[in-house]
Amino acid sequence: MSFEKTKELANGSIIPRLGLGVWQVKDGSEAVDSVKWALQAGYRLIDTAAAYKNEASVGEGIRASGIPREEIFITTKLWNADQGYDSTFKAFNESLDKLGLDYVDLYLIHWPVEGKYKESWRAMEEIYQSGRAKAIGVSNFHEHHIEDILKEASVVPMVDQIEIHPTLTQEPLRKFLAEHKIAVEAWSPLGQGKILENPTLVEIGEKYNKTAAQVIIRWHLQSDIIVIPKSVHEDRIKQNFDVFDFELTDEDINRIDALNTNERLGPDPDNFDF
Ligand SMILES: NC(=O)c1ccc[n+]([C@@H]2O[C@H](COP(=O)([O-])OP(=O)(O)OC[C@H]3O[C@@H](n4cnc5c(N)ncnc54)[C@H](OP(=O)(O)O)[C@@H]3O)[C@@H](O)[C@H]2O)c1
Repeated sequence: MSFEKTKELANGSIIPRLGLGVWQVKDGSEAVDSVKWALQAGYRLIDTAAAYKNEASVGEGIRASGIPREEIFITTKLWNADQGYDSTFKAFNESLDKLGLDYVDLYLIHWPVEGKYKESWRAMEEIYQSGRAKAIGVSNFHEHHIEDILKEASVVPMVDQIEIHPTLTQEPLRKFLAEHKIAVEAWSPLGQGKILENPTLVEIGEKYNKTAAQVIIRWHLQSDIIVIPKSVHEDRIKQNFDVFDFELTDEDINRIDALNTNERLGPDPDNFDF
């Protein structure tokens, strides 16, 4: 069965559709090993952030994997406290230093900090023009935040990374993003592991001889959502990548879509205090 493992962003960058997330992965051997195992298992996208405090170990894991840097897509993010025009450049340089890289593939504004995100975006555009971030985007931006940025932007964000899982499908926002050619990337795609015992997901998995986690990842992929499940266990890291040999039927996709309850695990981007 053929399935496109990568997606072309609006600027022509090629992003893998399935990557490893490293939020809450401890700096040191846990992060080094997770990244190395993932790259050796076939992953080519790693999603970190300055706020995860593990960029140095992510860089070390990349080097330890033996996979050439140019074959790997690295995302990091600008933390809230660093937002603003000058401070964005400073934070970006610090991230590159910690990662031990001279460019990232994608740089995201982590959260839409009121009164700051437009200045940050101006700096992000310059970083993009300089070639040190091959693509730029946002995270946790609602439709109105994107519309606000677009009033003055010279570069349209290429990605919006938002919370999506079968119990928070975000269909209206996904439709808006698709209309603007902004790729959708899901965070907490497995619902932070809390929905893996859902009977519908388990039952669908049994049909394909797959786990609920694999069913969920496949649902994201078939829904044109870039997906970055996190695990620190080598067997799960491998399991989460073993999703290219089966295809959910439209009926199964619809059943999973119907699990939506619009319940967030993280804060609403219109109401966060960090
Ligand atoms: N932009 C943002 O604001 C934002 C916010 C949150 C997350 N993110 C990104 O999205 C990534 C993923 O989200 P997430 O870390 O919140 O949660 P997630 O990927 O939805 O779930 C991770 C949890 O599921 C468990 N797990 C993973 N694979 C499993 C499997 N096959 N079987 C059983 N359990 C499994 C993991 O445990 P073990 O590790 O113990 O295996 C962990 O507890 C993050 O790492 C981060 O890169 C971004």
